[in-house]
Amino acid sequence: MTSAPPVARAPVDLTPAEAARVVRSVLAPLVAQGAVVRRPRMTAWAERRQSDRTARTILAGLRERYDGAPLVLRVGTRRLVVVTHPDDVRRLLAGTPDPFTPASEEKRGALAHFQPDGVLISPPEDRSERRPFNEAVLQADRPVHDDGAAFVDAVARATGRLAETARATGRLDASSFADAWWSVVLEVVLGPGARDDRRLVDVLGALRRDGNWSWLRPRRPWLRRELDRRVESYLHEPAPGSLADGVVALGGPAAAGQVPHWLFAFDAAGAATLRALAVASARPAVRDRLRDEWARAGAGPALLPYARACVLESVRLWPTTLAILRESSRPTRWDDRTLPAGSGFVVVSSFFHRDTERLPDADSFVPEGWLDGRHDADWGLVPFSGGPASCPGRNLVLLVASHGLARLAELDLHVARGRYLERDPLPCTMDHLGLRFGLRPGRVAGPARRR
Ligand code: HEM
Repeated sequence: MTSAPPVARAPVDLTPAEAARVVRSVLAPLVAQGAVVRRPRMTAWAERRQSDRTARTILAGLRERYDGAPLVLRVGTRRLVVVTHPDDVRRLLAGTPDPFTPASEEKRGALAHFQPDGVLISPPEDRSERRPFNEAVLQADRPVHDDGAAFVDAVARATGRLAETARATGRLDASSFADAWWSVVLEVVLGPGARDDRRLVDVLGALRRDGNWSWLRPRRPWLRRELDRRVESYLHEPAPGSLADGVVALGGPAAAGQVPHWLFAFDAAGAATLRALAVASARPAVRDRLRDEWARAGAGPALLPYARACVLESVRLWPTTLAILRESSRPTRWDDRTLPAGSGFVVVSSFFHRDTERLPDADSFVPEGWLDGRHDADWGLVPFSGGPASCPGRNLVLLVASHGLARLAELDLHVARGRYLERDPLPCTMDHLGLRFGLRPGRVAGPARRR
């Protein structure tokens, strides 16, 4: 990302009417959909209302009115600052963890239900140990993880089974996809022995639903103990070629405590893959290019640049981290105004990712923007965040998701409501949980074709 110094604009206090509009039509829909696990009825509602389009209109209007200054509002006793300029995104993300900690009050309340030791909500003294641990096990800086061959084998097995079912029934939907995806996730993170551990998924799911309510929902320590016991049962004799193996090899006091975040975060990778598959199924040119790349790729964990770019474009268009939150650990100066310690900062991802004023192709499917590096250089495009707390799982996600996408693009799928996806502009909100695909008759080629 570029390194020109950011411009500081003095934050402005919104009028009560403006603040109410931001809370009602920008922030509330994000919370309602479920920050930690999506609520299907609310994601369907958000798609019907195209809530991200409304949010964009409101924030773009306020940005224009206040010349890109950060927008200050109160929610109860909490001071929130919604930024609208990429320079301010950069300031927040590059200034992490000090003075802008990712362990905001909202996030601690939400994530402590199932991952109290996770790096994202760790205090600075623990972060300095847990962040390098995450980077090392996930091999954050390597496009292809050393255990990539085992990971893509897991993808091959699960997508192979999914393809068989799709051929038998003529259908594929979000729930059959999710089942296959969990097999991949459990195998990649904990090894083949965990592949069918749906109890673990259920326990994690229950705790994530608690997390949606943050501090409002009492903790359920007995469920968390069950989650920890199940995770630890796979760490006694960790399967080679799984992340569990790396966890045990590196060890350390909070090693096992990082695993629940990985399991939870892989869910987002499934959503991104499914949405990219929907676009590919509606656009023959995208699907053909995926197939072509796949046909030419070598065996094993090949790098699939176009498929990776499609997954990145999916999380640009429909970000899975709906808002990136920061909290100031000390007073911060913004031009001629100082905001007190404890202010909460909000980056509404979809607003920046779909900013029609800055991005000529804001509402178009343009994976090329990731292939030529343009998007990576833009502090407004942060599907995996940016700066020192950016997602250390990004490369791993792109490896697993690109192989999943490439294999499923081999199926001749058509997507229900594909007419909304076959051409630009693409809808601002897409409910991945409502996606349904059919198999075009007469074609039986499937993901098991090559390997
Ligand atoms: C599409 C999939 C994913 C997306 C879009 C994504 C995005 C993000 C974002 C935006 C953050 C920063 C959150 C914040 O600053 O508040 C983050 C943090 C993190 N992600 Fe991911 N993530 C994904 C999947 C994964 C996976 C699969 C793993 C692990 C296997 C992972 C590991 C982490 C960790 C450990 C952090 C915390 C980093 C820190 O606090 O230093 N993520 N991710």
